Order: sequence, then structure tokens, then C-alpha cells
Amino acid sequence: MKRREFLCGVGAVGAGILVERSFAQSSRAADSRIEVLLGEEIGTINPTIYGHFAEHLGGVVYDGIWVGENSKVPNTGGIRTALVDALKRIKAPVIRWPGGCFADSYDWRDGIGPRARRPRRTNFWADAPEWPKSVGPGPWKFETNHFGTNEFLSFCRLAGAEGYLAANVRGLGAQQFYEWIEYCNSPAGSTTAAEQRAGGDMPSRHPFGVKFWGVGNESWGCGGNLTPEEYAAEYRRFTAAVPRYGVDLKFVASGANVDDFNWTRGFFSKTAEKNRGLFGSIFGWGLHHYAWNLGMGKTNDWLAAKGDALRFNDAEYYELLREADRMESLINEHWTIMGEYDRQHRVKLVVDEWGAWYKPGSEVDPTHLLGQQSTMRDAVLAGLTLDTFNRHADKVAMANVAQLINCLHSLFLAHEDKFITTPTFHVFEMFVPHMNGRAVRAIFSAPEVRYTRVDKPAEFWGLAGSASINGKQLTLTVTNPHLSEPRETEIVVRGARAATAQAQVLSEPDVHAHNRFANPTAVQPRNEAVTVSAGAIAYRFAPASVTRLQVSLE
Ligand code: AHR
Repeated sequence: MKRREFLCGVGAVGAGILVERSFAQSSRAADSRIEVLLGEEIGTINPTIYGHFAEHLGGVVYDGIWVGENSKVPNTGGIRTALVDALKRIKAPVIRWPGGCFADSYDWRDGIGPRARRPRRTNFWADAPEWPKSVGPGPWKFETNHFGTNEFLSFCRLAGAEGYLAANVRGLGAQQFYEWIEYCNSPAGSTTAAEQRAGGDMPSRHPFGVKFWGVGNESWGCGGNLTPEEYAAEYRRFTAAVPRYGVDLKFVASGANVDDFNWTRGFFSKTAEKNRGLFGSIFGWGLHHYAWNLGMGKTNDWLAAKGDALRFNDAEYYELLREADRMESLINEHWTIMGEYDRQHRVKLVVDEWGAWYKPGSEVDPTHLLGQQSTMRDAVLAGLTLDTFNRHADKVAMANVAQLINCLHSLFLAHEDKFITTPTFHVFEMFVPHMNGRAVRAIFSAPEVRYTRVDKPAEFWGLAGSASINGKQLTLTVTNPHLSEPRETEIVVRGARAATAQAQVLSEPDVHAHNRFANPTAVQPRNEAVTVSAGAIAYRFAPASVTRLQVSLE
């Protein structure tokens, strides 16, 4: 390919212009280029952007996390030990709980004290249209409350994660929110709530010191069908006065669904109208975005437009990535509106639900409502999304993939004594070195992917990723979405010289590849050697892959 042709087909991701002269000096075989600009810092990557979400939904809690103390499944006080061990491997920073929509139907007081005395309640999801007809009553429809506040926060302690509790705004009041904080955080022996915490079947004398508190969930929908103005008033009421016990409480307001900019504008304008100083006490503004719509313009119906987790064609693969890739513009657009009112940008974005959402049929057990298998496609989607968060480290303070286990875009699948990790788990493990790194700008230039979408030509970017620095180590993560073409890439680091580099890559010849109970290691990352010559790196990114390069700088 001649250089002129190459440049015509090249898309640059990362808002930069390729310098022609430097490309002309690069390797002839390369069709792509990544330029890492060490001098252009974005911000520190908060580990909490690699966060998780666990809702009382289908098989997430019962069968997923909680197996019970008397189970034959290896457990620690009833909590699945294999899950805890795996979460330690990925340094899970934070887990959101108990929902989701479930949160706004949950009374935390039902889930404390001796388990035998806890009430059984109807789960928010009991009537979901996605339930297979064969599934009758059980803890998935009628909540036993065996997994309550102490069980969840003990699970977090075991995993080394922080708890992020979502409060019920639709059904409970500000006083119960106040008392939940008191229950979790008041010092041993100080309050009746602290005594209750120290009793029951999983006692904790020591306060849990919960920092992150969500004020409702999807308050525009299942969380109360509120208007943004109504929600702004509720938010202020809930957070006006709460006990702190020396904990730096961080409140997350229930933010927008996808591109509902009206919700963001409504909340921020109302809050500014009352008192701009309030922005200083809001840690995060939520954002939910799922990649689910494979209707390709023919339908936007919530059930009909979803695709299959395992059976998909090339167009559906690219379409799902395209849907996920909206995350970048959503971050930018919500951020811009937030800044119109909160001019110092004290409030950060918390993307507390994201991931792929398919139609039912691939769940590992019928009781796992919204359970789905997870392929290499989901790994690529996770890679491009986490890279997006890294590139916006100055804006995104936390993100929570939905959901942890046995559900949408899960890192783990489990049923009874069977437990496996999905390809997405491997992506999270590969990205660990980014945690606490300083994100720096990188320019990606690669030939665009061209494919056919509903009989018409369509394009998607060729390579994208993110870079961060930790001491003398540069971590560069890259996704190549192309289903069949590798990208021969020259990588240049501006501001330092690469000495050595190594790669870890997750890719499979078939993008439908996934792990199963019968074959738990079908998809796993492999290490690869990397050529560094005169400070420049040459690397071939495999098709449909997620790659991590770790570069030692001189
Ligand atoms: O993650 C499943 C559901 O998706 C959550 O309960 C809700 O918040 C969202 O609509």
C-alpha cells in the first residue's frame, strides 16, 4: 500500500493529527501507528473505575455470591470462596449493591439480625417478562434476606473492595437513609444500631466505614418515575444532614440513562438554582449505558432489538461495539452540561452500570434471570470501554460493570459447585497496572474497519486504547476490533525512550469463543515477545483482540 492510500483510510482516535514526516521514517511494514505523548497528562486513573455491581437479581446473589454456610461449595461464612479469590486477583476496588432497580424496593432493615428471623419479600424482578416459564418460586423471586448488609460488607472486606450502597429513595425516607449510615458506620457500642450490627449471624463489632452512598437508582424510571427537578429536591433532602463518624462520605446522585441530557440539565440547573455550593458535596453523577440495541434502525424495541450472546454475525459484532463506543460521546456531552452549572467540575461522573445486554437463552441456569454467556466479543467491548474510562480519567471517578456474576456482562459464571471466569475477567486482570497510573494522551492511527450494515457500507475505527505511566513503566492497552485483519503497528513514545517491552494478548481465532464449565480455560491471555529497536516498538495486534503492552522507559 502506498503512503497516500494509507493516510486516506486512516482514522485517528485520540484527537490528534498524525505527523506525516515521522510516519515516513517508520517501518515500511506498519499500517498503523500509536504515538504516546508523555507530556500530555490527563489525570490519575482512579482504581474505582474498575468497579463492580451486584444486584439481588436472578443468580447474582443466591447461587453466585452467597451459597450459605452449610453448602458443599467451598465458602467463607456462606460466601463463595472462589469468587473472593478471583476478585483479589483483579484488585476489585468497589462493589455496588443491592441494586439496580431492586435497591428502590429494598428495606435494609429486613436484612439484619439473625437470618432465621428475617422476612421473605417479593423481589423487584419477580414479574420480569424475561423469566423462563419453567422457573417457579425461590429466593430469585422471593427474597429471603439471608444476604443483607453485614453479609455484603463482609464479602467486600474479604475481597478487599469498598462497598457502594444504593439507598431506596422511592420507598424509604431520608430518615431510614440516615439510620442505614448509622448502622454501618457508628462506632462499636455507641448506638443501638451499632449493637444490632454486632449481633446476628455475621456480626461486625467494628464499623464498616462505608464511604460510597448512592441516593436512589434510575430515579427517572424504576426508582420513582421522578422528573429531574423532583429528584434534585429528593437528593437534597436525603443528603442535607447525615451522621459522618469521621468517614469522608461520597454521595452519588442518580444520573442519566444514556443520552437523556435533559435529566442532567434538569438536576444541575435545579441544584445551581438552590445553591451552587451544593456541588461541593456531590461526589458523583451517575450514568447508565448498556450496549443492547442490535435493531440496526429496524426496531428499537427493548426486547426485540436484543441480540444473542453466542450466535451473532459480523455486522452484529460491529454493531454491538459501536453501541458500546457511544460511551465516549456520552461522557463528553454529560460533562459539558455539568460544567455549565458546576463550573469547577467538582462533581465527577460515576458510570455505575455498563456492559452488553443480550436476550435470554444463554444463561447457565434458568433461575439466573438476565444471565448470559460472555464471549471474546464481550472482552473486546470491555477493553474498549475501560480504555475510554482511562482516556477520561479527569472526568470519570468510578464505573461499575453490570453485573458481577451470573448476569449481564459478568466476569464470573457459577452454578452450585461450578465456577468459571469469563474473557471479560481476563481483561480486568490485564488492566490492573493502569490502576493509580497517570493517564497520558495517545494518538491511534489505523485503517478503518469496513463492513456491511443492512446492505450499506459502514465503518468503525481501526485501533483504540489508552496509556498510563507509573514510575518508569508505561502501560498501553489496545483493542483491535477487526474480525480478520491484524494491525502491524509502530509505537512511538514521545518524552522518553522505550527500553524493553512485553505483551499480554487476549484473542481467539473465533470471536465466539467463550469459557464453559466443561472447558473453563478455552479463552485466556498469552504472553508475547515485543521488538524494541532504537526506542521504537513494532507490534502486530491480533484481530478481535485486547492487548496490554508494558514498556520500561529509559
Ligand atoms: O442491571 C440490570 C438493571 O438495569 C438494573 O437493575 C437497572 O438499574 C438497569 O435498568
